[in-house]
Amino acid sequence: MAEFNIAVVAGDGIGPEVTGEAVKVLEKIGEKFNHKFNFTYVKAGGCAIDEFGKCLPEETLEVCKKSDSVMLGAVGGPKWDNVEGANRPEKALLGLREGLGLFTNLRPATMHKALADACPLKPEIVEGGLDIMIVRELTGGIYFGDRGYRQGKYGEEAYDTEAYSETEVKRIAKNAFEVAMQRNKNLVSVDKANVLESSRLWRKTVDEMSKDYPEVKVSHMYVDNAAMQLVRNPKQFDVIVTSNMFGDILSDEASMITGSIGLLPSASMGAGTLGMYEPIHGSAPDIAGQNKANPIAAILSAAMMLKYSFKLDKEAEAIENAVTEVLEAGYRTPDIMSEGMKAVGTIEMGEVIANAIMK
Ligand code: IPM
Ligand code: MG
Repeated sequence: MAEFNIAVVAGDGIGPEVTGEAVKVLEKIGEKFNHKFNFTYVKAGGCAIDEFGKCLPEETLEVCKKSDSVMLGAVGGPKWDNVEGANRPEKALLGLREGLGLFTNLRPATMHKALADACPLKPEIVEGGLDIMIVRELTGGIYFGDRGYRQGKYGEEAYDTEAYSETEVKRIAKNAFEVAMQRNKNLVSVDKANVLESSRLWRKTVDEMSKDYPEVKVSHMYVDNAAMQLVRNPKQFDVIVTSNMFGDILSDEASMITGSIGLLPSASMGAGTLGMYEPIHGSAPDIAGQNKANPIAAILSAAMMLKYSFKLDKEAEAIENAVTEVLEAGYRTPDIMSEGMKAVGTIEMGEVIANAIMK
């Protein structure tokens, strides 16, 4: 029997509800495939500010570091909007990414056949489904660059800096090429090399790396064009690799075209097997505590954890198949509800998925 220690950072808003269902599903996987998952609950985000005065208490980071993997719900909410920048709930997320060295963010944008109607694009544009993997750099660029206030041409100004070293680009590019090798071997690197020096270094480094991966077809695209191409012809994309900020923006866009922002998981990885797994959606404070949130993104994040951190491919697939089965059977949380389908809440959705696994 294999045993795995998982730190659970449920966070704020709907975070605790959706991670609760993911835990339930993992326990079923443990039962069925004979693994033991130990969960340690720690706080980060707004709830940690309320309890400890700090968005990311040291103990949280320590527990995460010692775990085999981290499962995160969501952080933030209007209650903490006026907290100073350095202690905002979102900063906890950045602190975890940096503190755990998670420089690669994998964000799949996959369309479920049963939900094709939810796609806002014309059916012919997405015919046959969508399956894009965005590989986003996660611990560099403008999110972590030099920032502050200074005297400028027009008086006091605030600034943030985009900076990338060759080392940072190399390690993310390498992972993106590896991902492309596992998929359709088509990699688009997105930058703004017509304007930014850091993008020119990015492009040059990706080109150099491409020599090690002759089978992968690489192309470069400016970020403005990429944003346009994603809605014009999303099927041209297989793997996209890009910087922290461009990846933030393009992954929201890609998720929307799958019609299912409540369904998409993500994985953040570093040099080892420890990863942090979280839904790409936020804390949705407007529906928190009402049993309305869709737990599928959190549940699929747990599947990514099994696959990428624990190398349990069969178990990950069992979760993915259960989700597909339940969607095909017509179960829908309010965010994806349509006429004639079976309306369920967060808890019921978690249950039908857990039951589908045990079948
Ligand atoms: C995301 C989020 C975060 C980010 C925020 C909450 C800091 O938008 O994970 O995409 O910008 O990385
Ligand atoms: Mg984002």
